[in-house]
Amino acid sequence: MGKKRLYIRTFGCQMNVHDSEQLAALLAYEGYERADRPEEADLIVVNTCSIREKAAQKVYSELGRFRSLKSLKPGLRIAVGGCVAQQRGRALLVAAPHVDLVFGTHQLASVPRLLNLCGHGGAGVVETAFCDRVESLAIFAPPPHGTVSAYVTIMQGCNNFCAYCVVPYLRGREQSRSGREIIAEIRSLADLGIREVTLLGQNVNSYGVGTPEGMDFPGLIREIGAVSGIERIRFTTSHPKDLSADLMQCFREVESLCGHIHLPVQAGSNRVLVRMNRGYTREGYLDKVQRLRDACPNISITSDIIVGFPGETEADFRETLDLMGKIRFDNLFSFKYSRREGTAAMKMTEPVAEEVKSERLKILQALQDEHTQERNRLSIGRVEEILVEGVSRASSRHLTGRTRGNKIVNFAGEERLIGRTVRCRITEAFLHSLRGELQLPEA
Ligand code: SAH
Ligand code: SF4
Ligand code: F3S
Repeated sequence: MGKKRLYIRTFGCQMNVHDSEQLAALLAYEGYERADRPEEADLIVVNTCSIREKAAQKVYSELGRFRSLKSLKPGLRIAVGGCVAQQRGRALLVAAPHVDLVFGTHQLASVPRLLNLCGHGGAGVVETAFCDRVESLAIFAPPPHGTVSAYVTIMQGCNNFCAYCVVPYLRGREQSRSGREIIAEIRSLADLGIREVTLLGQNVNSYGVGTPEGMDFPGLIREIGAVSGIERIRFTTSHPKDLSADLMQCFREVESLCGHIHLPVQAGSNRVLVRMNRGYTREGYLDKVQRLRDACPNISITSDIIVGFPGETEADFRETLDLMGKIRFDNLFSFKYSRREGTAAMKMTEPVAEEVKSERLKILQALQDEHTQERNRLSIGRVEEILVEGVSRASSRHLTGRTRGNKIVNFAGEERLIGRTVRCRITEAFLHSLRGELQLPEA
């Protein structure tokens, strides 16, 4: 019998992307090799996201596509994991009876065992319990050969209960991984050639509660800063309310900590921020941004904003635009508010009309495009350090990499530079990338 093939389709955030990598690593021990196309697979895993209505709906169309595959290949098994699986549980089996397994966000490590329960002629298997200690966090997924950058989960879950958000319900309470384990994992990654790590969690700056070492997030960053071979540390996402002076200090002190922070503001009006239960004010956010820029002058600041939260007036929206004007984010992810079952905002009255949301989103995105261009143009003439990630998609004679501020740079160069850190003078700036010229001698 040949090898079994696994096809994974992932939706949602970086945490989900990383969970998929971990699951693939775990299933490799069960003899599964990755397949590039669902048609080749013996097992299809759909790793789902439920952050907005649209994301959740995609899952059903995706599962619909796989139904015909199953009638062609009766041995094919289909498993659904992630946030929609956690949310819908058994209801998913009712909506899609061709699914064999539904596993929740804390059940990654149980998937091999659960798969063994499937396929005995009965109905599908469902397991969505939450665990006190999440084993899934500890699966070590070796990075594919030749990659230079890796994700490391440092915590999971969230205790913040922002009024619009389903994550705390679907990922459970905040749980941090032991610092010792994280450092050991990062050392092994460095030994395998990884140069850049991105620390993952819904709210990384509250890292450390309940761990045996009692190390907080700045403490963890300093420890990782001392791991030889790791040239770049990134993290996402941080919550403005928990961004401490000590973390800001890390940007001055820890050489490998990159000058980029993703700091979702969500809204620029205090009235809306209170209703969202965000725990900071517009003034508090502006003050922290100023202090970050004092600590790290060229720091890239990116953010998330929701338009059309219940009760958001035209004046509230103007305050968001005004805040954007004051800060000038390097990049922004913006969304129309989407009602999510079980959240506090579901019960709020004064919904904003769909057309108004669309109009506001359009205005906001046009303004952000101007700011992105403006911030990108500031790089022109500067010499930036680039970690070379691969060959550029646009041209095989060009390489692509990222600045410490997380901006994409394309430049002419030879493939042997992939995986190395080089210096480029930035010559042109576009909306989504920069163009650079390699500086000799190469670093
Ligand atoms: N933990 C991260 C965010 C995770 S979700 C944080 O706290 O920043 C990513 C983004 O999706 C959020 O920042 C928010 O802007 C958006 N989002 C979350 N719930 C949403 C909803 N119900 N409707 C629209 N956007 C939402
Ligand atoms: Fe959701 Fe808020 Fe937690 Fe982020 S901090 S995951 S937006 S509840
Ligand atoms: Fe989506 Fe769950 Fe991440 S809802 S954004 S996959 S935590």
